[in-house]
Amino acid sequence: MRIALEEVLPYGSAEVGRLFGARSTARELVAGLLDCAAEEIAFVPNTSTGIHLVADGLDWRPGDQVVLFDRDFPANVRPWLRLRRHGVTFRWVPMRDGGHRLEDVAAAIGPATRLVAVGHVNFATGFRCDLDGICELAADVGALVCVDAVQSLGVVPLSMARTPVDFLAAGAQKWLCGPPGTGVFYCRAHRLDLLRSTPTGWFGFEGAAQVTNGPGHLRYDLPERADVGRIEGGTYDLLGMAGLAAALAELDAVGIDTVAARVGSLTARLRAGVTELGYRPATSSDDDLQSGIVSFSSPVGPGAEVVRKLADAGIHASTPDGYIRISPHFWTTGEEIEMCLRELAVHQR
Ligand SMILES: Cc1ncc(COP(=O)(O)O)c(C=O)c1O
Repeated sequence: MRIALEEVLPYGSAEVGRLFGARSTARELVAGLLDCAAEEIAFVPNTSTGIHLVADGLDWRPGDQVVLFDRDFPANVRPWLRLRRHGVTFRWVPMRDGGHRLEDVAAAIGPATRLVAVGHVNFATGFRCDLDGICELAADVGALVCVDAVQSLGVVPLSMARTPVDFLAAGAQKWLCGPPGTGVFYCRAHRLDLLRSTPTGWFGFEGAAQVTNGPGHLRYDLPERADVGRIEGGTYDLLGMAGLAAALAELDAVGIDTVAARVGSLTARLRAGVTELGYRPATSSDDDLQSGIVSFSSPVGPGAEVVRKLADAGIHASTPDGYIRISPHFWTTGEEIEMCLRELAVHQR
């Protein structure tokens, strides 16, 4: 982002076109990461905006049902609840043992289910849901699946070719290590026309760069773009896109499978270590359901106090929904995990 800024700073907006390339680079890299076509990717400022594209874009009918997940982050709940005004109703999947079981999802889905709105990894407990299983259950009743992937994209491998979700949104500010204010939206190609009332703008049309056919002949007749990029509207955060393209390139160079394996071994050690120390993990120990997040509670005191003491030792953790949450990425070392466990041992006494 600094390099991009320095490049255009002497010229101001006259040379801003130099930054346009970052968007196509980023689009190709996201398509590679998600194992989908670049035409199925659009950029949005955050997860919430991506979810809104679906919530506001679909043509709702009174009696349609949306399946929601108890204790999901509000970004993936509030846009759906607003659909009450269209007569949409909701079925909730309860949280049990820090996660959402497939049998509870099956019980929530019914003939009126139009869409399942699921967080791939729960922000507080780190529980990773069985997306393939959820897609199968949804397909049985012809329902769509929309995924909040902000807590998984960049650390958990995801293939749109293998897992038939319809829509996916993820801010880039977490595991993608992109700049806050940039994010990714995926729409399966044959679902795009279901999004009837999405934003548009001059970028949403084929050949948009040619604004006019001559003086007084502005081109209002251009056909709408056939790819999901048509929702991008107009001028966007070019510096943010430069940062996102750079972050994605780094992730691509390391490789998502390497990232997942590395983070998997760090979180497995962390999880075993905190359990040995007497902390209580937020989720069951089924390996298939792990993510980049290890959350636990302390039997001896509030999590916030432990997190404060960890910060004093230079270890950054957080306390969403009351848990102590530790989220190592691929550059975290094994020694840093041991150091973290030594600190946690002190605060358990
Ligand atoms: C599961 C989940 N969804 C969404 C968000 C954030 O949404 P947005 O990218 O719209 O700020 C967060 C965290 O901040 C989150 O943990």
